[in-house]
Amino acid sequence: MAAFTDARRRARRAWKQSRSRWETKAAAVLDPMSTTRFLARVDRVYADAWCALSRVYGSRTDVVTLIDDLLDVALSAVAVRPRGLQQRDATREIDAEWFLDESMLGYVCYADRFAGDLRGVRDRIDYLRELGVTYLHLMPLLAPRDGPDDGGYAVADHRAVDPRLGSMGDLRDLASALHEHDISLCVDVVVNHTAREHEWARKAMAGDPRYRDYYLVFADRSQADDYERTLPEVFPERAPGNFTWVEEVDGWVWTTFHDYQWDLNWANPAVFGEMLSVMLDLANTGVDIFRLDAVPFLWKRLGTDCQNQPEAHLLLQALRALVFIAAPAVLLKAEAIVPPGELVQYLGGHDLEQRECHLAYHNQLMVMLWSAVATRDAVLPTHALTRMRTPPPQTTWMTYVRCHDDIGWTVTEEDAAAAGVNGFAHREFLVDFFAGDFPGSFARGARFGFNPQTLDARISGSTASLAGIEQALDLHDDDLLSAAVSRLLLLHAVIYGWGGIPLLYMGDEVALRNDHGYLDEAARASDNRWMHRPKMDWEAAECRHTAGTLEFRVFRGLQRLAQSRASVAQLHGHGTTAPLWADNRHVLAWRRRHPRFGSLLGIANLHDSTQSADAQLCGHAALSTPRDVLQLWTATLRDGRIHLPPLSVVWLTDS
Ligand code: GLC
Ligand code: GLC
Repeated sequence: MAAFTDARRRARRAWKQSRSRWETKAAAVLDPMSTTRFLARVDRVYADAWCALSRVYGSRTDVVTLIDDLLDVALSAVAVRPRGLQQRDATREIDAEWFLDESMLGYVCYADRFAGDLRGVRDRIDYLRELGVTYLHLMPLLAPRDGPDDGGYAVADHRAVDPRLGSMGDLRDLASALHEHDISLCVDVVVNHTAREHEWARKAMAGDPRYRDYYLVFADRSQADDYERTLPEVFPERAPGNFTWVEEVDGWVWTTFHDYQWDLNWANPAVFGEMLSVMLDLANTGVDIFRLDAVPFLWKRLGTDCQNQPEAHLLLQALRALVFIAAPAVLLKAEAIVPPGELVQYLGGHDLEQRECHLAYHNQLMVMLWSAVATRDAVLPTHALTRMRTPPPQTTWMTYVRCHDDIGWTVTEEDAAAAGVNGFAHREFLVDFFAGDFPGSFARGARFGFNPQTLDARISGSTASLAGIEQALDLHDDDLLSAAVSRLLLLHAVIYGWGGIPLLYMGDEVALRNDHGYLDEAARASDNRWMHRPKMDWEAAECRHTAGTLEFRVFRGLQRLAQSRASVAQLHGHGTTAPLWADNRHVLAWRRRHPRFGSLLGIANLHDSTQSADAQLCGHAALSTPRDVLQLWTATLRDGRIHLPPLSVVWLTDS
């Protein structure tokens, strides 16, 4: 801590010495008001950037010079930042907690699969509004390589939109149309790697040493082997190992993901500068949130799994400071799908001095919800979720039921032991269950990423198929279908009522099942994550207006959740969430407590029969006149016990 304070002191001194020089520089390109605001922002975060960057790059380069270069990038971005976005900056600098509002609700889709292209997305804004969406995450939309591109995560040109989706101009138009409807735009920035077709990689292959140093290349296989000893594999079936021999560079290139995705060398400060510049250009098109892809992998250290290293966090802290200087309206979201103990660190330190990302995925809630519905048992989820640390102030979780990726079963040995189950056996059970192999399973998923050495496997499948809707439809069984619809709504009722920003994945609102069309596409056939990235079925979506249809039930249910959520002040980001122990293991309960607005109690019956729980244990004492604000199901209070219908949820608040 003393060293940290000392570093901040030195940072402040460095900024004081440079400030008047920067005042002159800024005044040359900005109007007086913008100059004042630019300098005020640097005043505020210079030390954050300095402390983070000096720890990462201090031994390699002069940090004051490095920050000067980065401030140049930031200042040039401010100089061309459109007026409307500068107004957005001004508003959000004052209302810095805008994204903590209880009305926030996200929707995630591939632009082409949802609406053809970026213009098509514009035409669907009304549909998003019907669902209560205030945040749209468009999956990777920058120009990818040709052929297999890992769902757009192999970017060949960070400065261009994928021409099949439109142009930078279309992106700008879409962003402003969304803003007019109070929807913020989130896009992916793939920061950990580029496609091997990227200009930087091509220059490296052409022998330019400057660009070779943008990547991690080992001339000698034994160096790669030294790292490989402690590295896991992300795609053991399709892309075993973490290095690829590349003739043109005469060496082994670090490729964590596929052989065509080259990891960037973040130990090189030039890479930091390039990525900052890419991000600020995108910010100037109107992007509000960056989903920073695969950030746990940014820093490599021999003898480790090369994930979640301290430097990866410092890099994010520095990015946070510099993005704030140029575009304070913009948020950072960490894509860190890591063990539960590592998750909250991506939201920064609790002392507010090490600010990192504003948002991060609550992977643990997602995994535990699937475990809960498979086992109909809340014991493991309650243990695991109790152990999670609360996010720091002014940050929040993204809660979700599933995303475009597979589900990895991050059940820790510690949580498993607390719940009296064997971790390995339980993970194996979850894989069998969701692959549909376990007797009595309702799920229709598929195994993904099976690793014969560790026997680890993950699961692909759409929400509807994993929740039992596909099976019920195949069996023409109305009772099973009702149960499965309830299960899908239950999962969403937890993520909408937990606290954080819930994310709805495209198609789940009309219960789209697994799509096997990818098997006919050569570039996708070997990657079954495509089964849960269906094309939007607009005919099915039309059925949302027809009472009695599956689509109507699911869509209406989700609308109800969105409306209820927006009316519950306890779900504002100032609240905190903790699981409660019910006296019935089939009941998952949690309490959302807001310092001013009081409590919300969420109570979910995971079982397909009616269940009851002691009302006091479920937090009832915290409310004087409990009322279910959700009213999707009807629970009753009798003899001090709450009786919940099969697969149902209530959200109780004081009326
Ligand atoms: C992220 C993406 C995933 C992709 C990987 C490599 O985890 O979500 O889809 O395969 O990064 O970019
Ligand atoms: C795992 C990894 C993530 C990767 C994904 C691929 O979740 O942690 O980084 O992209 O698998 O599906």
